[in-house]
Amino acid sequence: MHQTIHQTISHHALLKWYSPSTKLIERLIYPVFVSTEENCYEDLMYLPGQKRIGTKRLYNHLKPLVDGGLQSIILFISSDSIHKDEEGSFADDSVNPVIKAIGLLKEWFPRLLIACDVCVCAYTSHGHCGLTLANGNIDNSRSIKRLADIALAYAQAGCDVVAPSDMMDNRVMAIKEILRANSLSSTVSILSYAAKFHSSLYTPFRKVSSSSPLYGDRSKYQLPFESHSVAMKSIVSIITLFHKKRDIEEGADFIIVKPGLFYLDIVCKAKELFPFTPVAVYQVSGEYAAIYHASKAGILDLDQTIHEYLSGCIRAGASMIITYFVPQIIFNKNHEY
Ligand code: PBG
Ligand code: ZN
Repeated sequence: MHQTIHQTISHHALLKWYSPSTKLIERLIYPVFVSTEENCYEDLMYLPGQKRIGTKRLYNHLKPLVDGGLQSIILFISSDSIHKDEEGSFADDSVNPVIKAIGLLKEWFPRLLIACDVCVCAYTSHGHCGLTLANGNIDNSRSIKRLADIALAYAQAGCDVVAPSDMMDNRVMAIKEILRANSLSSTVSILSYAAKFHSSLYTPFRKVSSSSPLYGDRSKYQLPFESHSVAMKSIVSIITLFHKKRDIEEGADFIIVKPGLFYLDIVCKAKELFPFTPVAVYQVSGEYAAIYHASKAGILDLDQTIHEYLSGCIRAGASMIITYFVPQIIFNKNHEY
């Protein structure tokens, strides 16, 4: 199977991620929480400074940011009133506001890159990132089929990038295959959470997306943080998965290392192993909240801390940074990024 490099990198913002001279602002990805209520515009208690936004309010929220240079966003759901079941049916239901938002955002901001987090934890009654067996364990093969269907729904709705955050084995392959079968693999990229650690720093996010597991935890599918070899294995297997299917020089899609600060060694190592694969750092909700609160308490200078954080990511080799601080960075008049 032959694909050209243009097919792999179908959106202009993606091309920027490959270039060393790209401005920092073009490397930022802003997480946006979409609500089931169209007029919602609510503060998120656990993520102060962030909003839960209905589809009718998205335009006004994003317009100044896009005007300020924002290139990319990643969509999540945030709602207390989702119908949840074993299979996470609402994830790819056509009334899911994430799906509605994709179409609207494409109309309003045709050049904005839209990524979608692909997972079931916000939609399942048990709150796990995959489907479960009767005994509560993960059913991997059913899970990756389900995740592929959800990724396809977002791709068909028009997003540019699907970002599976579930950590089930071989879900990237399943997603790639379903995109290909539907002639979408050349226009929709996969940004894989390749090295996602079993971290305590996701707590605020789980409150915001009502996605905490009902029983057990995620240690069976998220990576243990005590050693780097498992993370490297995960990154290697995801990248070789692509390379098997594509010419080597085009094989790279994108990977995420998550959380950021405690894991920049992993970014460095991933970069050494795969110098041509853009790596994203996800500065997760717990990191954001810690920095936010410390600055509110007058303990840290917010702008200096953000600047130092971003610089550390770039120095480690990150090509993209997913951060809730995007508005702070864009509207900061004292710093030239
Ligand atoms: C869903 C998902 C999570 C995050 C992104 N997607 C939570 C988790 O896996 O537990 C975390 C993001 C953050 O903390 O900012 N799987
Ligand atoms: Zn999940």
